[in-house]
Amino acid sequence: MRPANIKAGIFAVGVIDWNRRMFDSLIPLPDGTSYNSFLVQGSEKTALIDTVDPVVAGSLFKHLEQAGVNRIDYVIANHAEQDHSGSIPAVLEKFPEAKAVCSVKCKEFLQDLLHIPAERIMEVQDGQTLSLGNRTLKFLYTPWVHWPETMVTYLQEDKILFSCDFFSSHLATSDLYVVDEARVYEAAKRFFAEIMMPFRANIEKNLEKIKDLPMDLIVPSHGPIYDNPQFIVKLWRSWVFDEPRNKAIIAYVSMHGSVALMADHLAQSIARKGVEVRLYDLAVADIGKLAIDLVDSATIILGTPTVLAGPHPVAAHAVFLVNALRPRLKYAGIVGSYNWGGKTLETIKAMLSNLSNIELLEPILIKGMPREKDYINLEKMADAVVEKHRNLAKTLPLHVIC
Ligand code: FEO
Repeated sequence: MRPANIKAGIFAVGVIDWNRRMFDSLIPLPDGTSYNSFLVQGSEKTALIDTVDPVVAGSLFKHLEQAGVNRIDYVIANHAEQDHSGSIPAVLEKFPEAKAVCSVKCKEFLQDLLHIPAERIMEVQDGQTLSLGNRTLKFLYTPWVHWPETMVTYLQEDKILFSCDFFSSHLATSDLYVVDEARVYEAAKRFFAEIMMPFRANIEKNLEKIKDLPMDLIVPSHGPIYDNPQFIVKLWRSWVFDEPRNKAIIAYVSMHGSVALMADHLAQSIARKGVEVRLYDLAVADIGKLAIDLVDSATIILGTPTVLAGPHPVAAHAVFLVNALRPRLKYAGIVGSYNWGGKTLETIKAMLSNLSNIELLEPILIKGMPREKDYINLEKMADAVVEKHRNLAKTLPLHVIC
């Protein structure tokens, strides 16, 4: 891709990574991603806002060359993580007059993670401005989107918010701006679920902080640019502020079919009684899809056989993630099958320590294959879910949410 001109003196010079399939050796990227970097030219100074993952630094330099750049004064580091700041050392080497500009906390991170010398880093405070001549950058601290050092950069005259991970989507697309809203919705919700959801309390404050900024564009560091900023702001506000919806997740593992019978029965019964259900066989599920559903579901029911005296390791992995992502779930249920005992229930309960506000439904652990009395108990669990959900908002279709 060649660099793209956003408006006079502002260029997108980042790189699309079509084939990346894993982030942080943890997060699946089914749609690839992009590392967005932007060149902002003022009448006196030039700034590069964020860089790219160092594995594609060569493409960044090619784009800078194609844009005719021969001087960079500032490299804005909104976030120290390597997918944005990993190429800063190479940029500073190529442009010896340049300084990295970042929050106080980020300075420490850049020194530790990338060994950037202190004298090449300029700290800025929350709310501080930096003149490029006829253009002004304003830095706003927005901690925990996604690390404690993160900030956003607001280009005042052009009303552009360079938001870094805030409002991002892991989506490789040749569209510079959002074209396919449904596709971006899915990718942005996945990004929020997997990366941002644990920091919801901080994100609430950050959303309030930028609420009254006049914005013509939100320019994130992954995925396409929002030329309708309210599209993504409204989504994030709904994911952060809204109550969970009338939706239940059933996530299970089954070794010989018993737990699958229980999960299927629950799914059919709960759905028949008017609750939207998402059923995941964890042995084959995309864990990212499960994370997406955690954003606005009210209930999760976990199903597992007892293996080596505890939950199946695949179920334990999912429970660990649910606990770490700190979703707004209100209710949880545990169902399972064993043959000679164990501590499955106690283990799962202990693993959900971050979700102390959650109400645990009466668990159902059975011996072997489900019998008639077990199906009666599963019906009772389904009834309990429906009763608990009675006052929740109906799940809204995409066009209503947007
Ligand atoms: Fe896109 Fe937190 O890095």
